[in-house]
Amino acid sequence: MSITIDVENLTKSFGTFTAVDNVSLHVDEGEVFGFLGPNGAGKTTTVRMLACLISKTSGRATVGGYEIGNSSDQSKIRAMIGLLPENVGLYEELSAYDNLDFYGRYYKLSIQKRREQIEYFLKMLGLWDKRDDAAGTFSKGMKQKLAIARALIHDPKLLFLDEPTASLDPEASKTVRDFILELKKEKRTIFLNTHLLDEAERICDQVAILKTKLIATGSPEDLRHSLSNRKVRVQLELVDDAVTGAVKTLGFQIAEKTNNSLVIIVNNPEKENPEILKEIQTAGGRIQFVTEVGSSLEDVYLKLVRGTE
Ligand SMILES: Nc1ncnc2c1ncn2[C@@H]1O[C@H](COP(=O)(O)OP(=O)(O)OP(=O)(O)O)[C@@H](O)[C@H]1O
Ligand SMILES: [Mg+2]
Repeated sequence: MSITIDVENLTKSFGTFTAVDNVSLHVDEGEVFGFLGPNGAGKTTTVRMLACLISKTSGRATVGGYEIGNSSDQSKIRAMIGLLPENVGLYEELSAYDNLDFYGRYYKLSIQKRREQIEYFLKMLGLWDKRDDAAGTFSKGMKQKLAIARALIHDPKLLFLDEPTASLDPEASKTVRDFILELKKEKRTIFLNTHLLDEAERICDQVAILKTKLIATGSPEDLRHSLSNRKVRVQLELVDDAVTGAVKTLGFQIAEKTNNSLVIIVNNPEKENPEILKEIQTAGGRIQFVTEVGSSLEDVYLKLVRGTE
């Protein structure tokens, strides 16, 4: 069975308030899918529906081939997925080890398997030395790490991670990001809620931007290229009239100019850059660096999210 997620016109209302409105999306097996959107966009609500924690209002969704809202499929979905919830909710009085052991038992893992898995994850996340400490004494980041281990204890093929690196220090964030990429190599499907656009850009195959309704979806690269204006910065030893003249003669507009750099507005940089650079050189310009400007995923995100206000 393929571990995909298919969502069609999924809607969730709380009373008269619609939190998630008619969302359709598809997540392929082995894909890291980044779910982005401002606070209150409905990301957590969507994950809670897909993880069978709350009911949907309308529409449909299948998770690993099983239908959410269908009572006989519910337990199959729960057994198949790993969930890092937004509020991690640990047993505060139990030790880190016993928190994980409790979940291992819930998933009916053998004692041997539980020992192996718990040791592996606690070591990987740097909590092995704290295994006998009560989870209630942990810092926010340590609790977050423990909850990540808990989500993975039964080797799920499909993971919902709701802001996994929130409250982690830079080093721990990197450990978790690298770990997500390891999980991807093992062909697990990962649904990732995040506010970190550079994180999404680095690890996601596909992203979707939600603001109650879905406002965009595609690979980070496709979304970056969807902004109409693209710009290229050319750094030179010296920008003189011959250089700017060459750029203008080709019909390109200069957006910014300093004595050693030009920002040029282009439509199709992959095709136009070689031509522009050749003309600059012919005009005597000595090129040091060429970089793409702007249109990071962040630019696109801000433009799209503000565009719906
Ligand atoms: N149980 C509930 N009852 C009423 N309203 C709710 C409930 N759960 C969520 N909401 C509302 O639904 C909207 C979406 O919330 P949700 O937590 O899904 O947003 P989010 O995209 O995860 O935001 P954040 O980035 O802040 O985590 C919010 O306006 C929230 O107040
Ligand atoms: Mg949330």
